[in-house]
Amino acid sequence: METRALTTRIRDSAKPVVRWGLRHALARTAVRTAAKRGDLQARLITQAGTTATAGLSGLFDEIRAHGPLLKGSFAYITTSHAAVKEVLTSNDFQAGFGTVENAFVARLDAWSEPGHVHPVERPSLLVTEPPDHTRYRKLVTRVFTARAVENLRARTEQIAAGLLDSLDPARPVDLVETYCSLLPVTVIAEILGVPEHERKRVLELGAAAAPSLDMGLSWRQFRAVDSALASFDAWLRDHLDHLRAHPGDNLLSRLVAAKEDGVGLTDQELRSTAGLVLAAGFETTVNLLGNGIALLHRNPAELDTLRREPELWPIAVEEILRTDPPVLLTGRSCVRDTEVLGVPVRAGSLVTTVLAGANRDPAVFTDPGRFDVRRENARDHVSFSAGRHYCLGAALARMEGEVGLRALFDRFPGLTLLPGATRRGTRILRGYETLPARLRG
Ligand code: HEM
Repeated sequence: METRALTTRIRDSAKPVVRWGLRHALARTAVRTAAKRGDLQARLITQAGTTATAGLSGLFDEIRAHGPLLKGSFAYITTSHAAVKEVLTSNDFQAGFGTVENAFVARLDAWSEPGHVHPVERPSLLVTEPPDHTRYRKLVTRVFTARAVENLRARTEQIAAGLLDSLDPARPVDLVETYCSLLPVTVIAEILGVPEHERKRVLELGAAAAPSLDMGLSWRQFRAVDSALASFDAWLRDHLDHLRAHPGDNLLSRLVAAKEDGVGLTDQELRSTAGLVLAAGFETTVNLLGNGIALLHRNPAELDTLRREPELWPIAVEEILRTDPPVLLTGRSCVRDTEVLGVPVRAGSLVTTVLAGANRDPAVFTDPGRFDVRRENARDHVSFSAGRHYCLGAALARMEGEVGLRALFDRFPGLTLLPGATRRGTRILRGYETLPARLRG
């Protein structure tokens, strides 16, 4: 009996090591070596952790200069707007890493699967493909309609006003901590029926789990993320049990009961979907708000234009999303031999689609480095991706961005950012960790 318990303990502690080895350690070494050789993709991954998006634009241009797709050491990469859209909307590509061809590695991969939900492991919407993806998405969109989001505008305005009321204009504040992070988490928590006293914990777990999208994590980072995801999963289990027993008027209560052709979501599918909607609901929008504040502060003439012509706010939000997108890149794996804008791509190849790079493609956006709240085609950015995996929360994020930024700048016209702003260390999720500010001019 004791031997069996010991074997289980050893197996359970070996799994994360194997998982880290397969998902991060190998990639980490390969990226470092390739970056030294000058591989552009590896250079992008390395620099992304320390450089603001505008600072990466030279690399985006260099990659684009090689044509629609550049073949790097371990994947194709593209910063061309046309190629990014083509890959994201094509049926020749699918989300996720694809199938591992080596049978032994595939078995190890399956054996070491984490016992908790993870944003980029099945059954997460982000890496699932039809028919399951269609089923999950239909169930969520049924309860998450554009009308439902528009109905939330007045409530979002109230929440923003409440948060601004609580700021003391006489003292310097960190806008990320006191505003940018709290607005989206409060809105999504209300939508999902998360009680108020649990929001702080959810916010902390989300922040700790945010690097889970990055590749090449160190062992220490991997362990921290893994433990945050396990706690988040345990919390979701309890929360869903509670909603089953006491359903309320919220999205999750409806999702628990929702059925497509008589079939609902399994417990794991439900936790994965609910967890993704919850985390995506605040881990990205916080960056839209923070990046927006910084951009508008750096471009006072554009802010003046918005004060004179507030009807331009929706375009301003698109331009913020284009210029400093909260998500740097995503990727797809090729399922059959194909071509992308004339470049042959073999089945099994991976393609990194750099959303921030496509947003600065001069073939689509004139003078792409310029921040222009009147840009007519600002909405052509790909910051919400494209195709089947197009962001499910895009309408909500746009509304929160508009309401949140406008409320802040209307309330504090003299708002000034103070020196000392810091960026988050995550590579894929892009935004500020802190934004110190003085509210009165
Ligand atoms: C400015 C804020 C946001 C940005 C920039 C953003 C960006 C993205 C991107 C780029 C993807 C697709 C990734 C891929 O193609 O591989 C995505 C998917 C997704 N987003 Fe968002 N997102 C934002 C806000 C939200 C919000 C507020 C929610 C929740 C209400 C949300 C929920 C989701 C979900 C569930 C998916 C998965 C969709 C699928 O795979 O079918 N997002 N988001």
